[in-house]
Amino acid sequence: MSSAREFVFTANDFAHVQKLIYEHAGISLSEQKNDLVYSRLAKRLRKHKIHRFDTYLHLLDDIQHPEWQEFINALTTNLTSFFRENHHFIRLSHYLKENFSDATADKPVKIWCSASSTGEEPYSIAMTVATTYGKLNPHVKILATDLDTHVLDKAKKGIYHIDNIEKLSFLQKERFFLKGSGEKSELVKVRSELKSLITFNQLNLLADWPMKGKFDLIFCRNVMIYFDKPTQYKLLEHFAKHLSSGGLLFVGHSESFPNAGHIFKLDKQTVYVRC
Ligand SMILES: C[S@@+](CC[C@H](N)C(=O)[O-])C[C@H]1O[C@@H](n2cnc3c(N)ncnc32)[C@H](O)[C@@H]1O
Repeated sequence: MSSAREFVFTANDFAHVQKLIYEHAGISLSEQKNDLVYSRLAKRLRKHKIHRFDTYLHLLDDIQHPEWQEFINALTTNLTSFFRENHHFIRLSHYLKENFSDATADKPVKIWCSASSTGEEPYSIAMTVATTYGKLNPHVKILATDLDTHVLDKAKKGIYHIDNIEKLSFLQKERFFLKGSGEKSELVKVRSELKSLITFNQLNLLADWPMKGKFDLIFCRNVMIYFDKPTQYKLLEHFAKHLSSGGLLFVGHSESFPNAGHIFKLDKQTVYVRC
């Protein structure tokens, strides 16, 4: 505990936060995250005009308390960008051409983007699909989910600062975005046709999943890195049940699962095939 801090934050409080976020969201916070936890949650204490972390954490004794969602939102890390790890989108396009050239309205390609953050990832998937099929209304259903309700709200709006799409080609900008005018001239909006390919929902990867049926492709990138090994393997087994045989699982650049060979075979760089 630092005496220079605005709020009282003891080692016990940190341990309590570690336990709550691990149990609820699977997120493992190392001791090095002490300052980060303090600064992220300090905003919440200020909002409630509470001066001690133990008093704040007491609110969470009630699992129905609305502060629970804010607590989770504050502790998730949401870094993302359009076409992050671009080789995945190239692979996606090839896979669709090879396996789903005959997709129909009755048999659409089903894609789940399972940690979609502020939307850049599912929109990159949608742009890739639309480009692959050469139309804005391909036979695809994209489900985009995240635990954090704030990022989901932003994703649903599909409004970004123009700098966020700087690296996209001229054609991609023209085809998929509308530029704001006047005081909104620094903003761009995803075109409604592209947005309509995606359904956004809140979903905790560690809780029960309401979806029935299987997906053809699942993206779960740069989130399992926050989970410990047992949680990662539990999740992989769960994904395996929801992915068609031969379907692809895309994971983040620093995520690898050498012990899951009975369910997933490494195809190429961070792309796994369901056995
Ligand atoms: C670093 S972002 C990655 C975003 C995107 N997949 C990418 O690679 O650019 C991690 C996301 O995982 C979400 N997340 C963390 N724990 C989760 C959980 N238990 N269930 C669902 N989403 C979770 C966070 O809210 C955050 O938006």
